Amino acid sequence: MSDATRTSDADLSRRRFLVHGCTAAALIGLGVSLSACDSGGSDTPDGITVSGNTITIDLTKATALASEGRVQTISSAKVIAVNVGGTIYAYTNECPHEQQTVSQYTSGYLVCPTHNSVFDATTGAFVEGPSGVGPLTKYSATKSGNTVTITKA
Ligand code: FES
Repeated sequence: MSDATRTSDADLSRRRFLVHGCTAAALIGLGVSLSACDSGGSDTPDGITVSGNTITIDLTKATALASEGRVQTISSAKVIAVNVGGTIYAYTNECPHEQQTVSQYTSGYLVCPTHNSVFDATTGAFVEGPSGVGPLTKYSATKSGNTVTITKA
C-alpha cells in the first residue's frame, strides 16, 4: 500500500468516525452539545432577510456564521451556509439523495443525517453515502463587514 493510499484510508476512517459518531450521539439522545456536530442557529433567526434569490445575513444579529465551523440554515430559502476557515460557503440544504435536509457540519464536511451522505463543505462535492448521490448545488456567498450576501443562481 502506498503512502497516498494509507493517507486516504486514514482520512476516510476519520471522516466515518466523525460522521457516524455525531449521528450516533444524536440518535441516542445524549443531549450533549458537540461543537463538531453543530447545526447552527434557528431556522428563522433575526437578522436574515430573504428577497427573491438573495439572502442577506446581518452577523451582528444572526451570529452563527461569525464563528469557524458553524452553520446557518435558512429553511424558507432551502439554504445552508457554513463558515470554513473564515470563508462563508452556501448550498441548497436539500439533499440530492431523497431531498431530506442537510443540516450538520463536522470537520470540513456537511452531512445529511437521514442516510449519512457527506459533502465537501468548500465545494459541495459528494464524498460518501448512498450511491448515486450528486453534489450539493453551490450558491454565491460574499462577506463584507458584518453582512453576508448569498445569491441563489
Ligand atoms: S436523503 Fe440525504 S442521505 Fe438520504
